[in-house]
Amino acid sequence: MIEEIEEFQARALAELRTITTLDALYAWRNRFYLGKNSALGEISRGLGKLAPEERPRVGQSINAAKQALEAAYAVCETEMEQQERERELREDLVDVTLPGRPAAPGSLHPTTQIIREIERVFLQMGFVIWESREVESDLLNFQLLNIPPDHPARDMWDTFYVRTTSTDERVVLRTHTSPGQIHAMRRFAPEPIRVLLPGKCYRYEHVTARSEFMFTQFEFLVVGENITMADLNGTLAMLAESVFGEGTRVRLRPSYFPFTEPSAELDISCNICQGIGCRICKHTGWLELGGCGMVHPTVLRNGGYDPDQFSGFAGGFGYERSALMRYQINDIRLFFQNDLRFLEQFGS
Ligand code: FA5
Repeated sequence: MIEEIEEFQARALAELRTITTLDALYAWRNRFYLGKNSALGEISRGLGKLAPEERPRVGQSINAAKQALEAAYAVCETEMEQQERERELREDLVDVTLPGRPAAPGSLHPTTQIIREIERVFLQMGFVIWESREVESDLLNFQLLNIPPDHPARDMWDTFYVRTTSTDERVVLRTHTSPGQIHAMRRFAPEPIRVLLPGKCYRYEHVTARSEFMFTQFEFLVVGENITMADLNGTLAMLAESVFGEGTRVRLRPSYFPFTEPSAELDISCNICQGIGCRICKHTGWLELGGCGMVHPTVLRNGGYDPDQFSGFAGGFGYERSALMRYQINDIRLFFQNDLRFLEQFGS
């Protein structure tokens, strides 16, 4: 029996020398000596069949074999783990001396940049910034702005209707930022106010290089006592110089909006040709920015102000269309296509 054990030990150690992976090593351990079902476990079970005087010697021999296998296993395991670590280090080697890849910093969308720039200018003039809702009732988007149902002025704003049940319950995507005027007046009346309401507007328009179905407007509103057209003119002059550069002049052309009286279109002198006339300004020397005027008495009343005591001015300018001219961009759709080749040119 003792010979048999020695032979078993020699066989196990010989096989151990052929093992090259940790998995095979664990399998070897289970097969030869770990637990009752291993080969050594089976030999140990044979002890009971031996004569009592033989048992101690054979038992010692079994223990010696087990210790020899355990020791050989431990050496082999340490070696293999060491080799495995070295292999990992070799394969995952990082050359820390290589130059790093520069991270490409993102930048703000050009529309966000101009919104912030214009907000800064208005904040300096004592305005507060207000955000108004993009989904509006027909009442706010039209009726309280002096545009009753079926009034022909509605044709000026092709509208996306969200709900069309009855005129009073109609819900629209706001066609302009002007309904924000009513919200702001109702919030602050009868206190004097100066608010800027920037945001997106939506029109059911044929999308072309000059017209988008979604675009950005800046609405500004001032209400107080003795506010005149001269205040409007001064505010616009300051805005034009701050945003479009020193020396930019403004011009008001008579126009019509149901919610202002008198109404005007605001032009600024072309900052590409300095007003001399070029292809961008169609040789007029002027670029159109948007509409403005003195707040209509009916609208003041709808907002909660007494038009005999208060007056005010308001305006709404489209950003993207004026940017087409300012940056000589030939297609308004570029603003919302998220093409990095376009956006990266406006890195802040
Ligand atoms: C208005 O929207 C008025 N609410 C402006 C206003 C406010 C007047 C307060 C008086 C008092 P208008 O429809 O002209 O006006 O639009 C103003 C500007 O929005 C235009 O000058 C243009 O720059 C921009 N705009 C209008 N439609 C589009 C469009 N489809 N795509 C891009 N920009 C547009």
